[in-house]
Amino acid sequence: MQAKDLLQLADQFGSPLYVYDAEKIQSQYNRLTKAFSKVENLRVNYAMKALSNVAILQLLKNMGSGLDTVSIQEVLLGLHAGYEPERIFFTPNGVSLEEIEEVAAMGVQINIDNLSILEQFGTKHPHIPVCIRINPHVMAGGNANISVGHIDSKFGISVHQIPHILRIVENTKMSIVGIHMHTGSDILDIEVFLYAAEILFDTAKHFKDLQFLDFGSGFKVPYKKDDIETDIEELGKKLSKRFNAFCAEYGRDLTLIFEPGKFLVSEAGHFLVKVNVVKQTTSTVFAGVDSGFNHLIRPMLYGSSHHIENISNPKGKERFYSVVGYICETDTFANNRRIQEITEGDILSFRNAGAYCFSMSSNYNSRYKPAEVLWMNGQGILIRQAETFEDLLKNQIPLPQEIAATV
Ligand SMILES: Cc1ncc(COP(=O)(O)O)c(C=O)c1O
Repeated sequence: MQAKDLLQLADQFGSPLYVYDAEKIQSQYNRLTKAFSKVENLRVNYAMKALSNVAILQLLKNMGSGLDTVSIQEVLLGLHAGYEPERIFFTPNGVSLEEIEEVAAMGVQINIDNLSILEQFGTKHPHIPVCIRINPHVMAGGNANISVGHIDSKFGISVHQIPHILRIVENTKMSIVGIHMHTGSDILDIEVFLYAAEILFDTAKHFKDLQFLDFGSGFKVPYKKDDIETDIEELGKKLSKRFNAFCAEYGRDLTLIFEPGKFLVSEAGHFLVKVNVVKQTTSTVFAGVDSGFNHLIRPMLYGSSHHIENISNPKGKERFYSVVGYICETDTFANNRRIQEITEGDILSFRNAGAYCFSMSSNYNSRYKPAEVLWMNGQGILIRQAETFEDLLKNQIPLPQEIAATV
C-alpha cells in the first residue's frame, strides 16, 4: 500500500490510527510456507499475542493458519474467530494448573513448560496428550527481554532435566506427542537456530509417540532500509533437509510447526499520528504527536527503531527531529531522526507497527485506544473503533453515596 492510501485513511478515520495491509500478511505467509515446501506436513500457528484483533485472526485462518496462544483469553478469542480447538496450541508460562485444565478440556493442544505442572497434569489426566516445551540453553534473540531460550530464562524445561521428564512420563503413563522450543525473537543468525534445532532432535529421540516438533519462532524482520533479517529461504532449505532426515531416522512423518508473530504481521502494520506541535528548543526540534507509549511502547520498552515518514510532505527536504508523545513522562519515539520537513497538522507514519504495538497498548493518562483498519482489496475496513469516554468508565464503580458522604 502507498503513502497516499495511508493519508486518505487518516483523513477518513482520524488519528491516531493503526492500519494493517492484508496483502503483506498474505505474502509473508506464502513466503514461509514456500520456504518449507519440501516438508510434507507443515503447520503455521500464528502467535496471536503479536496482534489479536479478531478480523486479523479470521484473515489468517482463511490463509490456512492455526493459532499459538498464551492465555485462556487468547484461546477464547481464537474460538470466537472460528478456529477449531485442534488448530489451537496453548503455550503458557507460569499459569495455574486450573487454567491449563480448562483449556485442555476445550480440546486445545497444551504445551507444558515446567516439571511441577507436568507431574500434576500427568497424574490427573494421563489420557490427554501433551507437548513439552524444552529450554535448549541457547542465547538467541535481539534483546534481553525477548531472549527466552538461555540458561537464566524462566521458559521451558531444561534439556538437562530430560531424565526427570522421562521419570514423570513413565510413572504417570501420560502421552507426549510433541516437543517444542522457542529461543527468542529477532534471531539474526540462522546457524544458532539450526544449532538449537539439533538439541530439539536429540530430545525428541527419547519419546516414542511423537506427532510433531514445534520450532517456535523468532524470525527477524527488517525495520529500516538495509536492515538485517532472518534468511527464511536459507533456513527453509537447511532445516527442511535436516527435518526430513530426522523423520526418516525416527521412523515416522512428523509435522513441523512454526509459530510466528512478528514475521507475519510486523511489516503489514502502519501507525498514523498527527503532529500537534513543532517545538524548537535550544538543543533540538521536537515533533509532538497525538499519541505516546500508551499506544506504541516498543521504542521505549525494547529500544526498537520504527522508521518514520511524513506522509503529508513525502517530497519535503529532510531535517532532524525528535519525535515525542503526549504522555506526561518521557516518551521518545525517535531521537534526532531525519524526516521530511514537518509542519503542525502533518501525518506521520510509523512502519513495522503490526506486531506487539496495538496488542501492548494501554489507557495510561486515561487516553483512548485508537481505531484499527484493515486495508484489503484497495479499501479500508474498520476492524476496531476508537474508544470513547464510555469505554474508560465501563468497569469502574463509583463510590456509593452513603460511603462517599462519610469522608
Ligand atoms: C512461545 C512463543 N512463540 C512464538 C512467539 C512469537 O515470536 P515472534 O513474534 O518473534 O515471531 C513468541 C513471542 O514472544 C513466544 O513467546
